[in-house]
Amino acid sequence: MEIIVKHGDSLKQKTPCLVVGAWEGRLRTPPLRELDRRLDGALGRAFRDGEFSGRQKETLLLYPGAALPAERLLLVGLGKDGRRADREGLRQALGTATGLLLGRRISRFSIDAASFSVRRLEGALLGQTLAEGVELGAYRFDHYRTEKTEELPPALEEVRFLASTPAAGRELTAGMTAGRAICRGVCLARDLVNQPGNIKSPDYLARRAREVADEVGLHCEILERDELEALGMGALLGVAQGSVREARLIVLEHRGGLDDARPVALVGKGVVFDAGGISLKPAEKMDEMKMDMAGGAAVLGTLLAAALLKLPVNLVGVIPAVENLPSGSAIRPGDILTSLSGRTIEVMNTDAEGRLILADALTYVRRFEPRVVIDLATLTGACIIALGHHASAVLGNHDGLVRQLLKAGETSGERLWQLPLWSDYSAQIKSEVADVKNTGGRPAGTITAAAFLEKFAEGLTWAHLDIAGTAWEEKGRPGTPKGGTGVGVRLLIEYLR
Ligand code: BES
Ligand code: MN
Ligand code: ZN
Repeated sequence: MEIIVKHGDSLKQKTPCLVVGAWEGRLRTPPLRELDRRLDGALGRAFRDGEFSGRQKETLLLYPGAALPAERLLLVGLGKDGRRADREGLRQALGTATGLLLGRRISRFSIDAASFSVRRLEGALLGQTLAEGVELGAYRFDHYRTEKTEELPPALEEVRFLASTPAAGRELTAGMTAGRAICRGVCLARDLVNQPGNIKSPDYLARRAREVADEVGLHCEILERDELEALGMGALLGVAQGSVREARLIVLEHRGGLDDARPVALVGKGVVFDAGGISLKPAEKMDEMKMDMAGGAAVLGTLLAAALLKLPVNLVGVIPAVENLPSGSAIRPGDILTSLSGRTIEVMNTDAEGRLILADALTYVRRFEPRVVIDLATLTGACIIALGHHASAVLGNHDGLVRQLLKAGETSGERLWQLPLWSDYSAQIKSEVADVKNTGGRPAGTITAAAFLEKFAEGLTWAHLDIAGTAWEEKGRPGTPKGGTGVGVRLLIEYLR
């Protein structure tokens, strides 16, 4: 797909479709007023009849005939209050428009960029947001649909962003380029999450990481079983031992900062399939547990985007990749594992495997002397009970870091909500026979999971994101089809920038 920025009068564009944004109840903005005049008041009538009033995600497709060189005109509702910057709203509006056009097999169109602009959402930021809306709206995962029937929409071919002046065009271009880099990261994460478990072994993740690293110049190291054993990663290896597919520890580095600048470390849970182990999960919806590596996918996607954007920061990405299956060689409830940190862990439930592999990964990143460590994981079903699918949970041992992440969540549209991590909760994970146990019972499951991780993050500036409720979209919404969402990439890039 190509995105081209051009400057000139959008109403003079010859295009299969001209897309124009409309704020609720505000027909009188410049392009709309002129369009209404050329269409003999058709827009005014649509407004008056309540057919289209600019409400969020509302659309109106018109065939302007001789009134415009464009073959079609698509109005997209942007909702109320055009004075506030709402990037997520804009992205969804464009996601809706892109989906609608592709559904009608229209794979080339032009966007009147200025009609989407509001205060504090203009220039480069507007270009970035528009590109994200289009790219994420066009995302599909249909590699395995060999019968390319009519119902499958075509791929997007070319989109033009129309700017009013050359200067506006230059800013749009800069933002558009950044938006596209970010979307490559998001779409990589989505693709990896959507891959089925039979394809997606820990080694597959490692090979994909290596490919990405080679393409964009990331430093990449893959640790295999011998090395993990020699290091003493007993918690990670414990989870892996139920599967014939061996564990990998994927380590990526982006060196964009000063040589001696301490890095930001990102750690992502990479359970390629979580059957629960001996504490087997119920059959219903178990297929969705192929998404249990979404944290790892977000880390890889973020490193890809950071490299493309040439972010001036040193970054380390660590992805512990394993498969959690029951078998004759699997760990049992009651087993005691010795982690890389030396701490012993009583395994109460083999389905609480994410915190086990993260414990070793958090210990491993210490060798990079990171100034900040952020982990992402589809860690607890309890997080879905607490927050549903509209926000990820954030917990940590450093208020400043948590605040910065909350802010990045707000601006990126990938919202976070903080849960407390008071020391009282760690009573729930005290073990009689080992240093700690891996479950804390029913109350506050997301918090006790974080309290477990906190022990292994001792002395680090650390935050944990539980993305169990946000990594997978069940129904599909504008800009986010059913399946992996790629959550975390836009958030982390916003935080890093
Ligand atoms: N991967 C799951 C958490 C999960 C559940 C993610 C649903 C996305 C959707 C995790 O490994 C898990 O099984 N957690 C257990 C922990 C419990 C045994 C303490 C859970 O949440 O039930
Ligand atoms: Mn589990
Ligand atoms: Zn899991």
